[in-house]
Amino acid sequence: MYVTIAVTYRFVEVYMNILIIYGSLRVEDSTTYKFGSKLLNKLISNCSEPNVKKRYLNHEEFTGAPNNDWVKANQTPEKDRSDKMISTLNFSDELIAELKWANLILLCCPMYNFSVPWNVKAYIDLVIRVGHTFNFDSETNKFTPLINSKKLILITASAGSYSEPPMSSVDFCEPYLKSIFNFIGIDLVETLTLNNRWMSNELKNESDKVANYKINNCVKIVQAGEKNNEF
Ligand SMILES: Cc1cc2nc3c(=O)[nH]c(=O)nc-3n(C[C@H](O)[C@H](O)[C@H](O)COP(=O)(O)O)c2cc1C
Repeated sequence: MYVTIAVTYRFVEVYMNILIIYGSLRVEDSTTYKFGSKLLNKLISNCSEPNVKKRYLNHEEFTGAPNNDWVKANQTPEKDRSDKMISTLNFSDELIAELKWANLILLCCPMYNFSVPWNVKAYIDLVIRVGHTFNFDSETNKFTPLINSKKLILITASAGSYSEPPMSSVDFCEPYLKSIFNFIGIDLVETLTLNNRWMSNELKNESDKVANYKINNCVKIVQAGEKNNEF
């Protein structure tokens, strides 16, 4: 009996569940979409058993940010929720289940006004939920992540570059995404930074070159992680 359980557990662990989240409001000509998809295709062709889910945050079915009803429903204890409250939280529950299903998350997110686009922020507000993705203890004043052993690869794009001061001080995109996913227990393993999109071809091509190099590196990181059961 024990052996069967152990073997089944190992069997489940070697599956690679990849969730790719497309955060750009653009469909055509989106740099984050292009490089995210390129990375995904490379990973698929190199992982032993990949399962993929795609979440488009620019489609009509992405119903948007939490509103008054959502906040009320979320703050009502589960046992006291009405049917309407339950259905208000359905989409958020679905997004959280998807996040928990994944071993590896590829988040494609452009910089908008030094930060993330509204739809990516709305996605974050829908999935960062007490009791689901994090907990806190009012006795010890401590927060605990509820999602573990998951890895994140960020694919970001911006018109300019934020790698050096003074512009690095206004980058509220990459550092924010890293922090908020880390808060719920998802560790950043790599970032493809497609910067200088609106700058000279020379700068843009340099950024593409680094990103393409990192794509190959990501494949190696993921393969090593798979081998060591880190995913
Ligand atoms: C509403 C909006 C705000 C933007 N704000 C910034 C910004 O603050 N800094 C920057 O470098 N680029 C900014 N950009 C440029 C985008 O980051 C850039 O075009 C990027 O390639 C968009 O990602 P995508 O190609 O995946 O759609 C902005 C673009 C839009 C549409």
